[in-house]
Amino acid sequence: MSVTIQFQDVLKKYGETTVIPGLSLEVKEGEFFTLLGPSGCGKTTLLRMVAGFNSIEGGDIRFNGKRINDLPPGKRNIGMVFQNYAIFPHMNVQHNIAFGLTNRHIPKEEIEKKVEKILSTVQIQEYKNRMPEHLSGGQQQRVALARAIVIEPDVLLMDEPLSNLDAKLRIDMRNAIKEIQNNIHITTIYVTHDQEEAMAVSDRIAIMDKGIIQHIGNPREIYRRPANLFVATFIGHTNILDGTLSQGKLSIGSYTEKTEIEINKGEIPVKVSIRPEEFYISDDKQGLAGTIINSVFLGLNTHYFISLEQGTRIEFVDQSGSDNIYKSGEKVLLKIHTKRINIFDKNGEHNLSTKTGGMI
Ligand SMILES: Nc1ncnc2c1ncn2[C@@H]1O[C@H](COP(=O)(O)OP(=O)(O)OP(=O)(O)O)[C@@H](O)[C@H]1O
Ligand SMILES: [Mg+2]
Repeated sequence: MSVTIQFQDVLKKYGETTVIPGLSLEVKEGEFFTLLGPSGCGKTTLLRMVAGFNSIEGGDIRFNGKRINDLPPGKRNIGMVFQNYAIFPHMNVQHNIAFGLTNRHIPKEEIEKKVEKILSTVQIQEYKNRMPEHLSGGQQQRVALARAIVIEPDVLLMDEPLSNLDAKLRIDMRNAIKEIQNNIHITTIYVTHDQEEAMAVSDRIAIMDKGIIQHIGNPREIYRRPANLFVATFIGHTNILDGTLSQGKLSIGSYTEKTEIEINKGEIPVKVSIRPEEFYISDDKQGLAGTIINSVFLGLNTHYFISLEQGTRIEFVDQSGSDNIYKSGEKVLLKIHTKRINIFDKNGEHNLSTKTGGMI
């Protein structure tokens, strides 16, 4: 059975230090939910509270409405996968996987059946008699995953399960994890500080900073309409420029564009977040003036590093497929796709662009 997980005003303190000051969120049944944030923001702390390895200083955590704050870890029916695989070195693969079942006094034939099934789910049948030391990192992580899901947990918790693997294997394994989670449909909380990994695997992501959730949404929403400047800069690449906003008009230096954002004051200073793909080279006389510093041709597109006249350095990705490569030293005028960019108040706390409504 898979469950809904509710966090209500959840508080975590280590001694006098508050690490999570009161967090509320709901993870839906069967959802692949990711906690994403910089090192030290409280991801592992929160996950351990769900698992029962950390005390909860305030608020409630519920599985399908049932409060679990005081339930011992062993009674929560949770499967866990960590960064260091934590598989037993003295047991072969199938014994490692069977461990949780043997502990639950399940009949031998049934254990064998379940282990066979999981071996095939995570695609390691051929290694079932091998000892862990003769497995690659990715294979060991599949064993750890198999061991976590063979007990048919209500909740699957994963804390940076891929961070010990090399770059290529990380991508293979993240696809495998996503596919397996999709098939078994267990409510999953996944922790990572790798934003690309989070985007690739998650149904929804919570971006955390200093124990506080900054934004919850699906990967597309978070990328396109980040709630604040922290989220905009944490997810993907972006360029931040200072500008001013007046009724229907955005100005960056002497460059102005129409916008649909309405404001009641005359003119306010803003931070403008423009992703590299949200610029284009202007062929009329208007735009942000800059000089090409460097270009990198990547086949699918070309990345340009440009020094703007006002002094800021920006990155622009030309996705037009044009054969025209601009050379270092060349002067260009850049315009922006105003419907796609995000405009924040000067402190970066609120996204003013969301007021225009709708996704693009
Ligand atoms: N047992 C503990 N006692 C005191 N402080 C702790 C303890 N465990 C963690 N902390 C502190 O709580 C904060 C959150 O730590 P946590 O391990 O949850 O971060 P994280 O988001 O998982 O980071 P990372 O990405 O580096 O794993 C940090 O400031 C950390 O120093
Ligand atoms: Mg951690």
